[in-house]
Amino acid sequence: MKILAVVGARPNFMKIAPLMWEIKNHPAIQSYLVHTGQHYDQQMSQIFFQELGIPRPDIDLGIGSGSHAQQTAEVMKRFEGVLLEQKPDVVVVVGDVNSTMACAITAVKLDIPVAHIEAGLRSFDRTMPEEINRLLTDSISRWLFVSEKSGVENLRREGISDDRIFFVGNVMIDTLLACRDRAESSTILKSLELKDRQYAVVTLHRPSNVDDPRLLKGLLDALEEIQRDVVLIFPVHPRARKALNGRPFASMPNLKLVDPLGYMDFLKLLAHSRLVFTDSGGIQEETTVMGVPCLTLRNNTERPATVEQGTNVLVGTDPSAIVGAYRQAMTQPKTGRVPELWDGQAAKRIVGTLQKTFAQPLSTW
Ligand code: UD1
Repeated sequence: MKILAVVGARPNFMKIAPLMWEIKNHPAIQSYLVHTGQHYDQQMSQIFFQELGIPRPDIDLGIGSGSHAQQTAEVMKRFEGVLLEQKPDVVVVVGDVNSTMACAITAVKLDIPVAHIEAGLRSFDRTMPEEINRLLTDSISRWLFVSEKSGVENLRREGISDDRIFFVGNVMIDTLLACRDRAESSTILKSLELKDRQYAVVTLHRPSNVDDPRLLKGLLDALEEIQRDVVLIFPVHPRARKALNGRPFASMPNLKLVDPLGYMDFLKLLAHSRLVFTDSGGIQEETTVMGVPCLTLRNNTERPATVEQGTNVLVGTDPSAIVGAYRQAMTQPKTGRVPELWDGQAAKRIVGTLQKTFAQPLSTW
């Protein structure tokens, strides 16, 4: 079997890593790795390949940044040529970024079956670009590898037959568990002069939060209030950097903006924090596994297991609600448990399923 795997943007790298590690154990599987180049900065891309031992991509399509249509179209144009040349048996895509959806459509149109890892997640908010990417990718993928139970229900509700749905657990947690010990040797706390549990982490990058100046101002007002109480470390995503450009932070001495961090540094920073403010999807999952309280600055989540079972609280974007949730989290931090099958074995299940079902015909297609 020849598997062609695709990555494009930062959260894809932690998801593809355990799959690449697992494929190495199966000499009968040939793999080919494509990077679309959606993310390209050293700190947004290459560092994860080095730290996670992901093989160097066989090809980088170099598409770079652009509008949604430009990015999607450019990936499709360049990816089609790779598929025609490589002729894989299966294309594997992960997550919900533009590269995921663009490559899935391109492959299916060439009659190459697609496996989608992290299928079935739904925020039920179609203003999120990722929700559109998830819906489109899932509707055309042959294998839907689901990370949490809600995903199975969502896919069934959408009329997808059971022989396409596989509840396998969470590949991002495979990577976290494999790297947790190694991340402990990161010196990030020392270099940022932080003490265990005496700081909080902030990440913001959703267009709905950072591209709307009025909303962003409200979030910063809340953070201004909170930094009077606790040091806030904010590794700034390039999209947020653009939005924050030129803002004076003189009134917030305890809000520390830093460049995007590599995987090991970020894992250590999360693991030792008192709590986390985020609008990321993956961080909601990582904090749940680490048992660190997470306040999600969004009105919805496509990862309900992190709220129902884990340490995540959906706080929304209202400044006073954020400050209130912060005070509550400091006095009564939410505890939780690790969702089913987030056990470090998801990639093994995925490869096993692909091998077993590769040649099986579907009931409907
Ligand atoms: C993308 C994904 C989002 C994911 C996020 C993780 C889509 C629709 N969005 O959002 O789901 O959560 O990645 O990071 O696919 N830029 C750089 N350097 C880079 C990459 C981007 O400076 O290496 C800047 C560019 O100015 C670019 C902007 O960041 O215009 C946004 O990048 P883009 O890939 O379009 O979307 P993200 O916001 O990163």
